[in-house]
Amino acid sequence: MSNIPSDKAVLVTCGLPYANGKAHVGHLRTYIPADIFVRSLQKNSQETTFVCGSDTHGTPIVVNAEELGITPKELVQQYHTHFDEVFKKMGVEFDAFGTTDDDTNHNRTTEIVDKLIEKGYVYPKIIEIAYCPQCDRFLPDRYVAGTCPHCGEKARGDECDQGCGKHLEPGELNEPTCTICRGPAEYKEQEHFFFKLSEFKDFLMEHLENLGGTLNARNYAMGWIKQELTDWCITRNLEWGVRFPGHDDLVVYVWVDAPIGYMAFTEQWAEKTGGDWEKFWKGDCPIVHFIGGDIIYHHCIFWPAMLKGADYSQASAVVASGMLKIEDKTFSKSRGYVVWVEEDYLDHGFHPDLLRYYLVSYTSHTKEVNFSWKIFQDKINTELVGVLGNFLYRNLLFAFKNFGEIPDGDIDPEVIEKINSTIEEVVRANSEYEFKKAADTAMALASYGNSYFQSNEPWKLIKEDKDACGKVVKNCIQLAKALILLFEPMTPGSMEVAWKQIGMDSDVHEVTYEEATVPVVSGTKLEKPGILFTKLEDDKINEMEAISSKRIKAAMAKEAGIEEVEIMEYKDEIEYDDFAKLDIRVGKIVTAEKIKKSKKLLRLEVDIGDEEPRQVVAGLAEYYDPEEMVGKIVNVLVNLKPVKLCGVESQGMLLAADAGERVSLLSTDKEMGPGSCIR
Ligand code: MF3
Ligand code: ZN
Repeated sequence: MSNIPSDKAVLVTCGLPYANGKAHVGHLRTYIPADIFVRSLQKNSQETTFVCGSDTHGTPIVVNAEELGITPKELVQQYHTHFDEVFKKMGVEFDAFGTTDDDTNHNRTTEIVDKLIEKGYVYPKIIEIAYCPQCDRFLPDRYVAGTCPHCGEKARGDECDQGCGKHLEPGELNEPTCTICRGPAEYKEQEHFFFKLSEFKDFLMEHLENLGGTLNARNYAMGWIKQELTDWCITRNLEWGVRFPGHDDLVVYVWVDAPIGYMAFTEQWAEKTGGDWEKFWKGDCPIVHFIGGDIIYHHCIFWPAMLKGADYSQASAVVASGMLKIEDKTFSKSRGYVVWVEEDYLDHGFHPDLLRYYLVSYTSHTKEVNFSWKIFQDKINTELVGVLGNFLYRNLLFAFKNFGEIPDGDIDPEVIEKINSTIEEVVRANSEYEFKKAADTAMALASYGNSYFQSNEPWKLIKEDKDACGKVVKNCIQLAKALILLFEPMTPGSMEVAWKQIGMDSDVHEVTYEEATVPVVSGTKLEKPGILFTKLEDDKINEMEAISSKRIKAAMAKEAGIEEVEIMEYKDEIEYDDFAKLDIRVGKIVTAEKIKKSKKLLRLEVDIGDEEPRQVVAGLAEYYDPEEMVGKIVNVLVNLKPVKLCGVESQGMLLAADAGERVSLLSTDKEMGPGSCIR
């Protein structure tokens, strides 16, 4: 199903990160494999253009800027710079990295929307839009919450993110509420513009049949197309965005101008380099979209229909990565399930290459995975350190110590054959978007190198037959050369260093696989090699796990509505007799009322099994309404000396758990008769 590699140039794009928060490891599950893919294509002598940029429009950005008291422009500029820097640090090298607010994108979007209007694919329609009567405003996208009409899960705005994943049209959410004031929203009529998606059904069916990439993308989209395709509302009531032509109060929906960014950034690349952007978008040079598994619908349904409607070329493949999870929760910055690229990884001194290798080799690209520091450690230690690093270091150190240069000798045909078949296999795996398989195949060549070194016992040969030893060493350096080229896409920084270690002075990033079997040159001087990959110690990994688990616990507690508990110092030890002095009994609240002069106090009557209920004054008025207290089973300390509070006598005390903001009365987990003793 692959048409890559081809003899034509290939355009590779990555889903545009929203410039609305920091980069986390979940983002990298898409960008790193894409970068590895591009580098591997280049190694296979393929011409590539690799573009991405910031997604700067849409309601969440407007909401966020509003909350921070800055303009959307200021907000997105800040995160755009952040993403640009993080990508560079992680070795993800785009040929262009623009923003969807750039003029190029405004212009291209306007051109495309005009074209769609001109061709009759856009029509106005009066629809019901969620409107908040309290806030007196229309509620586009994220401003409205409710339940998904397709699966019944809780959903927000334009997408069912916790349930079926479907894109939601304005007006579709059931039981709408306003996310600003949390009050109920109503639906109100307003004129919007629709794209005739339904007319593209047959085209889309056929397009998907032929679409390359990963099967998860195609199958997911097929599933939706077989059902009814509804027309798509492409305007929003916002100030921020690309103006909808002829309507000053409307912008186009963010999912219109965002993918057009792919085109705009290709134009930017072309402008910068003198390249030709039309060979992709109007010609037949392949386009490959790398995206997260949560935006398949947009890339396999909306986007191809827009391109078709405006007479542009189609993408030839959509490669969708499985979502990265942590403790089985999808990465989510707003919810706190997250590992930040900078503060949780780079700032702790980890080399970017380690994360690149882990993300690409851990499991198949389309699978959902849980991020795990332990598995990260294990992959690095056993594979990068134990196999690849070990081979390179041991062999180059031996060569340096015993020869100081690349020795004489012929390259074994078996070694050449092994290198060639590995490259062939890696190229094939890559063209099938099987990045893990490509990584494993390359790693298998390093294992082969280790056994080659081991079984030829050069440390014995050096004493018996220096020429024979030299030949073994030279063959190992040839293997090292091939390995460096094979690993450059995955671990580019480390392979740059390794390339120098085998005495090469070319740019390892520019050299292709063809160079792998070109014999290394005898007599090339060798320097003392440094260690490329060092073992990750348990202490370090435990420290990282502690950081993650602390954050996740806090997030889970927050989600359950439980605040983080501040742990108090322990009190002095007591004897059982001290405890036994407390007479605590089960009670049932019979009456509850506010004490007039006090904000905090309630007057309660509690049945504790006696003929008459006890009168208790409790400082609970801030936490409980009197009505909700009646009938509750509680624990009462009944032998506390009576005191008068605000003139009312209290003949006992209710026990409660106190977490500052919230207070919860102690009860029994089965209903017990009033008067039961507590011990
Ligand atoms: N910003 C979107 C997201 O993070 C992705 C946009 S991809 C594009 O989900 F196709 F619109 F460009
Ligand atoms: Zn409201």
